Amino acid sequence: MALLEIKTAGDPVLKQPCAPVEKIDKRFRNFLDDMAETMYASDGVGIAAPQVGVSLRACIVDVSARDGGESDKKARYDMINPVITHREGSVVDNEGCLSCPNLFGDVERAEKIRVEYISRFGKKKILDADGLLARCIQHELDHLDGKLFIDIAQNITKGRPKHE
Ligand code: CO
Repeated sequence: MALLEIKTAGDPVLKQPCAPVEKIDKRFRNFLDDMAETMYASDGVGIAAPQVGVSLRACIVDVSARDGGESDKKARYDMINPVITHREGSVVDNEGCLSCPNLFGDVERAEKIRVEYISRFGKKKILDADGLLARCIQHELDHLDGKLFIDIAQNITKGRPKHE
């Protein structure tokens, strides 16, 4: 495994809509593992492929370190070609992003979502998520459409997030 370079705001790859993943092979699974390692090394809860310079629709999410152990679901999700098929409710909370170091802001997101995606082994999956997991998935899927949270956030601050 290897750590990848995280692209930061201003890099054009972060503004570009990503292409669907066509081929899931061992090489791609290695790439997913590298993304995950990079995310954990940076203390992140999610990372999307364009954040490491690869314009493909894939992301990793693991909020287990931040949700107070409340989640009874498995921790790491490798999501390929994810699509949100249902949204419910609305909640505003503070967010940050590995590509926007030291910036935090309030973002309105759906409270509950259903997401459909392909697993790292090519299986179709459906996940119902709420709380931080739902927020994180919505944030990562925005990356796949070339959107950064700082473009939609309110009350952007530099420094530590409000809830920490
Ligand atoms: Co981000």
